[in-house]
Amino acid sequence: MSHKVTAIIVAAGSGKRFGGQVKKQFMEINGKPVLRYTLERFQTCDKIDDISVVVPQESIQWLTPEIPDRWGISKVKNIISGGTDRQDSVWAALKELDDDVEIVAVHDGVRPFIASAMIAKLVDAAGKYGAALVGVKPKDTIKLTREAVVIETLDRRSLVSVQTPQVFTRELLVKAYQKARLDEYKSTDDSALVENLGEKVVVLEGSYQNIKITSPEDILIAEAFLNRNANK
Ligand code: C5P
Repeated sequence: MSHKVTAIIVAAGSGKRFGGQVKKQFMEINGKPVLRYTLERFQTCDKIDDISVVVPQESIQWLTPEIPDRWGISKVKNIISGGTDRQDSVWAALKELDDDVEIVAVHDGVRPFIASAMIAKLVDAAGKYGAALVGVKPKDTIKLTREAVVIETLDRRSLVSVQTPQVFTRELLVKAYQKARLDEYKSTDDSALVENLGEKVVVLEGSYQNIKITSPEDILIAEAFLNRNANK
């Protein structure tokens, strides 16, 4: 059975941790903006029917012709103005979904190296289980601390460093967002809102290459990935 699947790509951050003039989602790597690489991965994934992109209000005007005409991304149906935090940005896109959408894949615009095959796997898992995300085992030991003093060393074998996409049935995700609003519960992680409903979230093992471009050195890492792939 095939469901209608929409991807929500959130790219409305102000890039506070990044500094500089250009927001990180629009920084160019090898001549192309980060967001363009991300959208290309969803464009080429057969399981994705259309895309809603959430961007800063002031970027809507230039992106409206840019995305289809120069970037060649035909699946983008909606370009939406983002909110104050990530949760508000996702909610802004959820409110605009077409009635017939059954599965929603939420992804950070600043994760340009997600494999299209992984997006497809997550869509299938969400159709089966309701909620699915991708993550990797932390490479470092993680400790719980308070005021710079260690409280506990966590067992690395049970930890997952969570990425996006996170994919859900539309029904579950909308319910989770509505409950979060009622509870005034805030998170930068969509699946946390689903957990807050008491629902199960399935974890698929992903790739360390699916980095989130967060600080300036991540651009150097991204360039290295791109050059390696180009030379293959
Ligand atoms: O800031 P952080 O790295 O957690 O942002 C993750 C993603 O959420 C980024 O792609 C960013 O553009 C997006 N975001 C957003 N609206 C906000 C804040 C972040 O769409 N208000």
